Amino acid sequence: MTFMKQFRKEFKRFSLSEPNTYINPFDQFNKWFQEAAGFNISEPNAMALATAGVNGMPTIRIVLLKEIENDGFIFFTNYNSRKAKQISENNQAALLFFWEALERQIRIEGMIEKANEITSDDYFHSRTRESQAGSIVSKQSEIIEGRESLEDEFKNLLDSEIQQFKRPEYWGGYKLYPKLFEFWQGREHRLHDRIQYRLDDGKWIRERLAP
Ligand SMILES: Cc1cc2nc3c(=O)[nH]c(=O)nc-3n(C[C@H](O)[C@H](O)[C@H](O)COP(=O)(O)O)c2cc1C
Repeated sequence: MTFMKQFRKEFKRFSLSEPNTYINPFDQFNKWFQEAAGFNISEPNAMALATAGVNGMPTIRIVLLKEIENDGFIFFTNYNSRKAKQISENNQAALLFFWEALERQIRIEGMIEKANEITSDDYFHSRTRESQAGSIVSKQSEIIEGRESLEDEFKNLLDSEIQQFKRPEYWGGYKLYPKLFEFWQGREHRLHDRIQYRLDDGKWIRERLAP
């Protein structure tokens, strides 16, 4: 058996108190995100996305947050992937950011919808030709024989005459509309700060949770 005790650590770098948080959780998110970005954290926009289909079994994977609008968080993926099938069965989902260097975690829960087509087109066209080709050839989450056919298809597409790829209808954005945020700041002796925002009748209610 491996014991994890040696990894125990005290959190004492920062604190989070109600007067120092914004009324609107999107403002608070932006503040913490800017701090994470300025802290040399690699890929601060990497977030865990948890989904569950009708069978209720939760699944989780990392995706990249690509856009924040004033009511939601946008990421891009394949609309036939495992996550997409689950989202089509049950659009409730959760996001999680963990920025170890700042001793911070942010949990977000809400409902997911497909992003609008213009958002997906714009983002697709902002990617490199190689990334576009990669998302065109990958039947994400399907079982494949090996890498070879994938690489052949990728190469053939790049070598083709097509200069400007069209976004395939099976690839695009999703937007998560939060109804709950929790900002967690590690503190000494496990007395961590947890500030939750929950949407109640269109208004954000801010409250503190026990650690
Ligand atoms: C750092 C990192 C970033 C990733 N970003 C994305 C992403 O933005 N979109 C995506 O579809 N998959 C991304 N992935 C891959 C997913 O974790 C996952 O393997 C893939 O989306 C298939 O998940 P699914 O089978 O549950 O649909 C990323 C993985 C890592 C480790």
